[in-house]
Amino acid sequence: MCGIVGILAKDAAAPQLVDGLKRLEYRGYDSAGVATLEGGRIVRRRAEGKLRNLEARLKGEPLAGHAGIGHTRWATHGAPTEANAHPHASGPVAVVHNGIIENFRELRAELEAEGAVFESQTDTEVVAHLAAHALKGGASPREAVAATLKRLRGAFALAFLFEGEENLLIGARRGSPLAIGHGEGEVFLGSDAVALAPFTDAVTYLEDGDWAVLTRSSIEILDEAGDKAERETVRASVASVIVDKGSYRHFMAKEIAEQPEVVGHTLARYIDMAAGRIRLPHGSDFDFSKLDRLAISACGTAYYAGLVARYWFEKFARLPVDIDIASEFRYREPPLVPGSLAILISQSGETADTLATLRHCKAQGMKIGAVVNVPTSTIAREADVVFPTVAGVEVGVASTKAFTCQLATLAALAIKAGRDRKVLSETDEAKLVSSLIELPRLMVEALHLESEIERLAPVFAKADDVLYLGRGTSFPIALEGALKLKEISYIHAEGYAAGELKHGPIALVDENVPVVVLAPFDPLFEKTASNMQEVAARGGKIVLLTDEEGAAHAGETLATIVLPKAFAFVSPLLYAVPIQLLAYHTAVFMGTDVDQPRNLAKSVTVE
Ligand code: AGP
Repeated sequence: MCGIVGILAKDAAAPQLVDGLKRLEYRGYDSAGVATLEGGRIVRRRAEGKLRNLEARLKGEPLAGHAGIGHTRWATHGAPTEANAHPHASGPVAVVHNGIIENFRELRAELEAEGAVFESQTDTEVVAHLAAHALKGGASPREAVAATLKRLRGAFALAFLFEGEENLLIGARRGSPLAIGHGEGEVFLGSDAVALAPFTDAVTYLEDGDWAVLTRSSIEILDEAGDKAERETVRASVASVIVDKGSYRHFMAKEIAEQPEVVGHTLARYIDMAAGRIRLPHGSDFDFSKLDRLAISACGTAYYAGLVARYWFEKFARLPVDIDIASEFRYREPPLVPGSLAILISQSGETADTLATLRHCKAQGMKIGAVVNVPTSTIAREADVVFPTVAGVEVGVASTKAFTCQLATLAALAIKAGRDRKVLSETDEAKLVSSLIELPRLMVEALHLESEIERLAPVFAKADDVLYLGRGTSFPIALEGALKLKEISYIHAEGYAAGELKHGPIALVDENVPVVVLAPFDPLFEKTASNMQEVAARGGKIVLLTDEEGAAHAGETLATIVLPKAFAFVSPLLYAVPIQLLAYHTAVFMGTDVDQPRNLAKSVTVE
């Protein structure tokens, strides 16, 4: 995960920038850099590796200047070299960036055709060149940023510094968090309150689409339309731990909102964005070409991620998958093939049942792969190969961002397996990868449905039973939706394959039973639509999660939540967002302990 800091200080900016970046080290990074205005001119110092290398650089070549920006970078586009480290500059503008610019390749081609010379492989550099191009055309810094933002597609946060503008910082937020820190005659920008902690606890969190024009004496926040926006300033209780609820009421709400950013960071670990193909992280390489079977095992939400992955491995890699919940897997004594691969999925990396299954598979001579969010965990340490998720610390007991990061990782592995087994063409790989690259932006749009979903909470809060239905890869998401509702609102809920409805569960349906139907408009939609008619005929209250086309073909519903159109491949990650929000707002309406629900633990370390 990358980190951003910006400062308009009363004295030297560089040391303070490094202080702020140090607070962001928890995010993980592999290079860092700062830029300040020395005599009005942009001067940069960047270094590979840890911040101490940048500090050594600054010791040898100190930076003057009271205005600056800084960045810790986790390599996404291009290796972790000094040339790829941020800040990136072009002419009179420097920029730091967190997130993914989806359309950077076409922008780069356009800018190079106009004579721009690029010095890095990053997507970020196109932002600097776009702003410089606008300035050259006579735009003011503020106009240049506005024009640049209009050209960018993706989920990102940005901070800009301009030559000759010692009293100007501009920041922008679209999908990745950015906050303003209020000082005495100083002003700051940071990825979160943690980055701002060395300077202030008076923090204003930008909302999605906002951008801000800062001077030492003024702060102007504008929304996506360019209209002035008022945002609340809070006292950020930056606890000693590196995780902070920020402006959210619960950790679960914050973690749901973080998904575009952390899914983007996870994808960036597995995708060579410049080539538009899968490239497993260093140390996580695995050749799937020799495998005849794959075993997957996990618990709870992680197991549902595995269920989705089974569809992907079997469809795109033609690889048969043997999957079961970890507490059952080893007791049914499945015939396991020595030398084949077992993938264990676990956010905590400490779940006892999953660890026991890892050891069982290892004893059977299998290779062990672990999709984990804690690289130092027991499961990670006992695996032969770790496939890391980059969700950051997940505090809420109900897993949300870890789940979608598990799916992002598994999606990349399934594509890699298809390529290794020579059953997935380069063209098809490129299409699947491109659908992953646009996903963070689509998840931002799904988050914008929150108020519509919140209005359903009173209906669900008074239900005794709720059904979730889905087909194909929407079926495991239906199971996950039921689990989310159960575990934080304590309402009984069941997820079912929609085609199973008439084999029993339909007996449950009456006017008191909300039925959540997950149905993107795909080849299975018509069949699911007839299931919805069966429910409606019995008075069931249908909440349909679909896209524009699905909404046009749907019958009577209590509510239809229209998500952005997406490739079927990425629908499970996209549709996870509304089912998480539905569970969250129902629980909030009921007043349960959302972050620490009764009877549950974040990591079940007993069998
Ligand atoms: C998910 O919301 C639950 N908290 C639970 O099902 C969890 O996914 C399961 O216990 C597995 O935990 P792990 O991913 O840390 O192994």
